[in-house]
Amino acid sequence: MFVQYIQQEDIFQDKKALSSSFVPQKIAHRDLELQQIGSMLAPVLKGYNPNNVFIYGTCGTGKTICAKFIIKQLQEAVAQKGNNLQVVYINCKMKKVADTEYRLFAQLLKELGECVPDTGLPTDVLYRRFFECVDQKNSQLIIILDEIDTLVRKVGDDFLYNLTRINQEMKKSHITVIGITNDISFRDNLDLRVKSSLSEEEILFKPYDARQLRDILKDRAKDGYKAGAVDELVISKCAALAAQEHGDARRALDLLRVAGEIAERNAENAVTEHHIDMAQQKLDMDRVTETVRGQPSQSQAVLYSIIKLNEKNTSQKGWVDRRLLTGDVFDTYTSICKTNNIKPLTQRRISDLIGELDMLGVITAKVISNGRYGRTREITLALKEDILARTKSLLIERFGV
Ligand SMILES: Nc1ncnc2c1ncn2[C@@H]1O[C@H](COP(=O)(O)OP(=O)(O)O)[C@@H](O)[C@H]1O
Ligand SMILES: [Mg+2]
Repeated sequence: MFVQYIQQEDIFQDKKALSSSFVPQKIAHRDLELQQIGSMLAPVLKGYNPNNVFIYGTCGTGKTICAKFIIKQLQEAVAQKGNNLQVVYINCKMKKVADTEYRLFAQLLKELGECVPDTGLPTDVLYRRFFECVDQKNSQLIIILDEIDTLVRKVGDDFLYNLTRINQEMKKSHITVIGITNDISFRDNLDLRVKSSLSEEEILFKPYDARQLRDILKDRAKDGYKAGAVDELVISKCAALAAQEHGDARRALDLLRVAGEIAERNAENAVTEHHIDMAQQKLDMDRVTETVRGQPSQSQAVLYSIIKLNEKNTSQKGWVDRRLLTGDVFDTYTSICKTNNIKPLTQRRISDLIGELDMLGVITAKVISNGRYGRTREITLALKEDILARTKSLLIERFGV
């Protein structure tokens, strides 16, 4: 049974080079941005205080990788010059690391070598300890908060205010905050004071175009694949598809890697355009099913109602009013809740959840006027047939037929 796998030649040389956590030697097409960030932080090497920096741009535009690259370079420079500089990188999306204000400060303290309990201290005590710890060190501290929007959405922006204001009280040390987000409109909702102190300097990462993505992929493919396993056509196709998805380099890399896995599984020794199409399908499928799986039961029940009603509508022959409205969903939803022992939410909340499902791209919900009943939403499913089938079976597993 395994003979064919033993005989088959590997098509990957180093698959890690194709994963999104890999930091490559060379970062293509971001010279300007790297230089900008570098010059903003450079004063730190002379003991001056840099401004806070706010970095934003859609996902897969290279923000995280550039930040990590800069940290590495800074640390090398410091090692040579012997400055008293510490850099802390925290990804706020990581659960249990920085998903509450407490955890954020606890994590910062840990990174600075302090021991703190995982829970228990009042936040202001923790904050005080952080302050004292930093000030005692007589040093420059750069804190990089990646995906900062996820934390602010959960706990508000007070902590950012505290963090950026701390310098006014400190005597011997200085903190520079670098905030990074994929959410382009994140800044608009910040408190004005927080906004102005966080974005003393701003850098926008624009989406990559197909040509830039091609260069990035070529470099990574050289490390990741055996010679001859991928050709120019394959790379161009991945780049073109990812360019359509708002120039997302992560998507481009995922396509290239998954296409290789599919080729490998089919015992082929080169990646073809067909494998990329299959990879595209698989990634879409995974994305939707993962999103749906990650939703709270209530949202899942709402989606399941929509899928059920949609099926009922399309299976009916002849002329029927096929519009699916919030009220219809609510009735089906309530009965799903009943059979599954879930406490149903109000119609108003269901309307909100429908809005959220729309934002996730699973459905589209257009707000329309419904005569004298006021406004309602007209709902359509936004999933391709195969993905819809998979999503449905996932929901059947959860709620029964
Ligand atoms: N200019 C680049 N050169 C090489 N790899 C890149 C480049 N830009 C992005 N990548 C790769 O694409 C993926 C996504 O980049 P990332 O920095 O995580 O994007 P963001 O943080 O903006 O969402 C990572 O695997 C990264 O290594
Ligand atoms: Mg990132």
